[in-house]
Amino acid sequence: MSVTDQSPAAPEPDADPARAALHDRIAADSLTTRRDYLRIVATVSGGLAVGGLAVAGGVLHRHGDSEGPPDRKRVAPVLAPGESVAFRFPGEDDRAVAVRLKDGTLVGYSAVCTHLACGVLWREDRGAEGELYCPCHEGVFDARTGEVTAGPPPRPLPKVLLVEEDDGSVWAVATARSGESVKDAVCRQFADERPEMAVRLGCPAAEAKAVERSERT
Ligand code: FES
Repeated sequence: MSVTDQSPAAPEPDADPARAALHDRIAADSLTTRRDYLRIVATVSGGLAVGGLAVAGGVLHRHGDSEGPPDRKRVAPVLAPGESVAFRFPGEDDRAVAVRLKDGTLVGYSAVCTHLACGVLWREDRGAEGELYCPCHEGVFDARTGEVTAGPPPRPLPKVLLVEEDDGSVWAVATARSGESVKDAVCRQFADERPEMAVRLGCPAAEAKAVERSERT
């Protein structure tokens, strides 16, 4: 018989009652520990899965959820073509990224992947004009539009509206929901609190309200 064919030897009955009791307790403990370990693993894995689904399904807070306009925030003193900057907006928990494309266009997005909420990174050296990349499951987003171009993310990256001041500084001023246009997002957030701005931006609802107001006075 080879070593690998050997059947395990039957355990010798323990002659000493104290040692036998100790063996029983150790066996019971190891079962409990294994059960607890499995329960902890299941809880943690389940929690991650539920968290991911909640983000994917829009249950948790996402960019663009606030109804009112956030306080604007300076994200960079200047941003040269090909450069990016990571920042938090509108809240300190909301990861975002601003990119200056090679042709000078300024784009901003939530940096929270729409798949399972991993951090999205800017890769300048990919494709014709770079890409936004999620390393968790190889998700890729178009740098110009935020649309998904590869991998499992179900929706485009929500946009962050950026403006550039005369001194070259870049500011985040508003957020959009995934798939929402920047103009619709700004109109929605500015309609009540900054109606004059909404009218200047040509938001239809704000214009209608302004006409209504002028007719009443
Ligand atoms: Fe981004 Fe899965 S979390 S691709």
